[in-house]
Amino acid sequence: MFAQGGCRLGLLVLGEAKILTAATAAAGCGSLRRLLCTETRDLKRTLAELIPGQQERLRSLKRDHGSEPLKEVTVDMVIGGMRGLPAMLWETSLLDPEEGIRFRGLSIPELQAQLPTVAPGGQPLPEGLLWLLLTGKVPSRAEALSVSEELRHRAHVPPQVLRVLDALPPGSHPMTQLSVGVMALQVGRHFSSAYRRGVAKRLHWETVYEDSMDLIAKLPQLAAIIYRRTYKGGHFIPPSHKLDWAANLALMMGYEDVGCHEMMRMYQTIHSDHEGGNVSAHTTHLVGSALSDPYLSFAAGMNGLAGPLHGLANQEVLRWLKNLTAKLGPHPEKEAVRKYVEETLASGKVVPGYGHAVLRKTDPRYTCQREFAQRYMPEYPMFKLVSDLYEVVPEVLGKTGKIKNPWPNVDAHSGVLLQYYGITEENFYTVLFGVSRALGVLAQGIWSRALGLPIERPKSMTLSALENLVMPHTTTATTAATTAATAATSRGEEAAA
Ligand SMILES: CC(C)(COP(=O)(O)OP(=O)(O)OC[C@H]1O[C@@H](n2cnc3c(N)ncnc32)[C@H](O)[C@@H]1OP(=O)(O)O)[C@@H](O)C(=O)NCCC(=O)NCCS
Repeated sequence: MFAQGGCRLGLLVLGEAKILTAATAAAGCGSLRRLLCTETRDLKRTLAELIPGQQERLRSLKRDHGSEPLKEVTVDMVIGGMRGLPAMLWETSLLDPEEGIRFRGLSIPELQAQLPTVAPGGQPLPEGLLWLLLTGKVPSRAEALSVSEELRHRAHVPPQVLRVLDALPPGSHPMTQLSVGVMALQVGRHFSSAYRRGVAKRLHWETVYEDSMDLIAKLPQLAAIIYRRTYKGGHFIPPSHKLDWAANLALMMGYEDVGCHEMMRMYQTIHSDHEGGNVSAHTTHLVGSALSDPYLSFAAGMNGLAGPLHGLANQEVLRWLKNLTAKLGPHPEKEAVRKYVEETLASGKVVPGYGHAVLRKTDPRYTCQREFAQRYMPEYPMFKLVSDLYEVVPEVLGKTGKIKNPWPNVDAHSGVLLQYYGITEENFYTVLFGVSRALGVLAQGIWSRALGLPIERPKSMTLSALENLVMPHTTTATTAATTAATAATSRGEEAAA
């Protein structure tokens, strides 16, 4: 599958076909090729070299420590959404409750300092992050740009996808369109045909890589198609061959402002991965473990991201902020804001953008966006409102005594940045989150196949089975009473009982 020896860095491997990139052809194997040859290594080849070592690490861990216990499993874990239960292998990132996310060991400020940028001091290129997630190494600028080039060559979205989207009922939510659009891209892709041909398990990662890179490449165009057909009358804008992956997404949506392009690079970088247990990541992983291909598993993950307690919270934050300003005006007093938060709680709703299942401090993804706003839009009224909320909401949530983390998460801030650059349609926001999430979950999907991880199949428990384990004596009586009551009800003896 890999070209043998020498410099093959202008060649992209698509399935088994080798294609000379337009850029290399244009450079006539001149300066660009020299640059690529001396400074870059091909991403897939770099991965191929890393995989045997990681397979061996996994084998020895399993062989030498496979039966060692990690942690006691409590009843709370079983009935509380598996909080704190270490139950899956996830290589691309790790979340610390106090410190927040690290991508292959790097915090967000470290990513910003170390990953290649378009301009000095600018935001990281998500392509560099993808290289890091896949290889565990910070890429050179040339390596990050080689990923941009690879993605550009895979980016075409076939016309049938638009026809499928057009068949949806008018008013279909953009996340529904994203999920359907991803499924429409799936037909006849690499992994499923390789599997049908009987390709060996140890080679599964190679075609999963092809599908994953294709899907990552096509997502900006798919997202932009959804945006333009939903909000801009369906006038589509082609990508630019000069722009990177994230900037092209903004461009195809209709945003040419370089500030917006920088924001999009930052946005796409920080939303990419949040270890494996969150709904979108875990779903993608679970479905992929059945050897469903990257399109099937990613679409499943996106259906999870579309839930209001997960990714859709960014849409909900904006709605909530808009309602707040509609009621209290654009510059409300803090006291009025406090009352509004209390009313939200009293009505039985959650305050969107606050709280987290794992984090116990302010989300560093929130802080990163706040710093971006302080730098580029310090006087923007909506940013000021978000800052005021930071001073009010945690205190109000803390007073309830039941919310484990009263601090803001990533979704509390993202919508305001998008609003500032003119992307005002909040129902679309989760699609942008989803495009970014592809980087993390699909990178992990490639590793899951490279490591030969098995089909996921945790044990579930009935209430009676749990009771029998922790209170065997009482439960027998309770279960007997419940069984008798059920039998009595079915005999119509309720009144007598
Ligand atoms: C993210 C979230 C789902 C985590 O849920 P969790 O792990 O169950 O959180 P907790 O253990 O702190 O929840 C304890 C209680 O506080 C409530 N709670 C948590 N965050 C809350 C919030 N922001 N507003 C109001 N109530 C909240 C929970 O609903 C739960 O109430 P219950 O016992 O009546 O069911 C939750 O914080 C939330 O709903 N936040 C708002 C939505 C959001 O921003 N989601 C994006 C997350 S990145």
